[in-house]
Amino acid sequence: MEIQLWRELLEPYGLAVDELVVKFNHVKQQYQDAEMYSPIEIVSGRVKRISSILEKAHRKGVDLEELEQKIEDIAGIRLICQFVEDISTVVEIIRQRQDLEIKQEKDYISKSKPSGYRSYHIIAYYTVHTIHGPKRLEVEIQIRTLAMNFWSTIEHSLQYKYKEHMPDELRERLLRAADAVDALDNEMASVRDEIMDAQDSNRKKEKLISDILNNIENLYYVANKREVTKIQDEFFKLYQQDNMELLIRFSKQLDIIAETYRAQNIVNRRSYE
Ligand code: GTP
Ligand code: MG
Repeated sequence: MEIQLWRELLEPYGLAVDELVVKFNHVKQQYQDAEMYSPIEIVSGRVKRISSILEKAHRKGVDLEELEQKIEDIAGIRLICQFVEDISTVVEIIRQRQDLEIKQEKDYISKSKPSGYRSYHIIAYYTVHTIHGPKRLEVEIQIRTLAMNFWSTIEHSLQYKYKEHMPDELRERLLRAADAVDALDNEMASVRDEIMDAQDSNRKKEKLISDILNNIENLYYVANKREVTKIQDEFFKLYQQDNMELLIRFSKQLDIIAETYRAQNIVNRRSYE
């Protein structure tokens, strides 16, 4: 196939990957904006390289004419979670979406592949719109934990290095490493609540600090400079004490001050009109 034809073939897949990366990042963002824990930690995507498509087509005896029907992972999305438990939440999010129609689910989590590989795969139909009209194509979504991702990245590069000739001893060690990854995921699951609590309070603190700084910045426009400097000094002192309760109380006071200025401003503007 000519390179120009490859470009035309792959272009809509590139669009699908770009769109889905934006959409899944938005899911993560929405959780964060709502100050909720996001089951998605990292989103990535890629279009399969021409050489990999050719290699896979050859390996599976697929004709070039039927590439799009037979090769399901030309467009690939990877969703990486912190905990095993998050995977089923992400799968449910995908099942509920109207823009993805699931063709097949492959659960290599409950039962790993003989290599030790673990991940949850969804093959789904997704429609993109180009100047040539709508095109429905297939995408492969891989959902896995950070630990599973670590293992499969390493194993993949070794597979690439050795092709079919991976030494038995190395294969054995990878299997043992896969067991260790499994144990790590289980261990993390058992401390999940504690980790989530810690992350939650970090998020709350970040939000509080950013609210306070915003309020102080806004006060610069309306309040007396000396007063704002005083407020700012007070904030720095509290910040160093690292006491959430005091910071919360300070933030509330600041809200009242800011509100007073807002009210005054409205009165001033009214009297001017
Ligand atoms: P290929 O494995 O790509 O030939 O496709 P398949 O039709 O057999 O589907 P499968 O679900 O087995 O694999 C799809 C994708 O999952 C692969 O392209 C890899 O990205 C990943 N994968 C599957 N098995 C392994 C494995 O043993 N190790 C690693 N690192 N990745 C794997
Ligand atoms: Mg395979």
